[in-house]
Amino acid sequence: MTRAARAGTHSPPGAALPLVPALHQSTVHAYPDLASLHRVLDDEERGQVYYRFGHYNGQVLEEAVACLEGAAAAVSAASGMAALTGTVLALVEAGGHIVADRNTYGGTHSLLAVDLPRLGITTTFVDAADLDDVERALTPRTGLLLVEALTNPMMRVPDLPALAALAAAAGAKLVVDSTFTTPALIRPLDHGADLVWHSIPKYLGGHSAAMGGIVAGDDGLVARIRQSVVHLGATLGPFDAWMALLGLKTLPLRMRAHTLGATAVARFLATQPAVTRVHHPTRPDHPHAAVAARLYPDGTGGMLSFELARGRPAVDELIRRLGPAIPLSPSLADVATTLVHPATTTHRSLRQDDLDALGITEGLVRLSVGIEEPVDLVAELGAALADA
Ligand SMILES: Cc1ncc(COP(=O)(O)O)c(C=O)c1O
Repeated sequence: MTRAARAGTHSPPGAALPLVPALHQSTVHAYPDLASLHRVLDDEERGQVYYRFGHYNGQVLEEAVACLEGAAAAVSAASGMAALTGTVLALVEAGGHIVADRNTYGGTHSLLAVDLPRLGITTTFVDAADLDDVERALTPRTGLLLVEALTNPMMRVPDLPALAALAAAAGAKLVVDSTFTTPALIRPLDHGADLVWHSIPKYLGGHSAAMGGIVAGDDGLVARIRQSVVHLGATLGPFDAWMALLGLKTLPLRMRAHTLGATAVARFLATQPAVTRVHHPTRPDHPHAAVAARLYPDGTGGMLSFELARGRPAVDELIRRLGPAIPLSPSLADVATTLVHPATTTHRSLRQDDLDALGITEGLVRLSVGIEEPVDLVAELGAALADA
């Protein structure tokens, strides 16, 4: 019993270090004396104590993401929504006010519209691409301005530097969800944002395997958010942090391939008679093509959406013909191309008038273009659309 309980508690001998950071799954650390434990608890020395307060693999991931985002610090959490909840609870008091783009991810919208009002925190929803609308909504009480760098599924492109100026003038923090874009394409903090956050399973992790969320910014803000993540018990697990770090290493390569693929697919879809509209910031008819060209010199990643002339029956037919090569899968940013039907998946909780206001029709399909050869994707889509 004694030997079993103490098995593996000593490091193996040898000077060489593993090339891939080790996975430290221990929930707690052992200290030689109280003084050294207290130095860590009092933040005088770096170290780990108990997993919920932070752990080695979380720290490695946080330092990597902070470095990529040009941030002083980052804090990871169990999911993107946990990172956002921690951020809001850290930075907005009861009775506080938020301004948010009405085009944000459905989970963000639900947190703002359903949960936070119960704490007296209200949100004014705006079109973040309409600067007058944003300016009108900001009040001296507004704590946060929440936007996505690129919105889902219409690929709207808010002007981050202009929003940062409006937020600063109103004394609010600009918080940018950069899940679709990543630091390989844009670093919102360089454009004046106060915080940037991500859902890790998307492009940061890149392989639909690592779960989690992360938010990056200055030391003071991140320390406050870390405290609320710890209090919420929303710490990211070490294995997910470890996997996210492996994914992060190929992020720029993947984003380049996603961008090439999506641009080629958007160009192709725009020539198809079955397609009435392609929503992609490189298309000349996109309302924010100029802002996108200014903010995204290396392109906008793998996301696009398009509308089928024959509506829902054509969508069902397309899904049937494309699967399993391009499957229906209600997430995004995998290395393989996937699609969703926003009206009945990502945006299913919205009322019909809200869907109408966002332009989400029954014929709209969202593609998350993977890193396959664009020529293969074009051939598969072309065949499926011709048959459909
Ligand atoms: C753009 C965007 N932001 C945030 C989230 C929430 O992240 P998570 O599901 O990791 O909580 C999602 C989830 O799909 C998303 O698509």
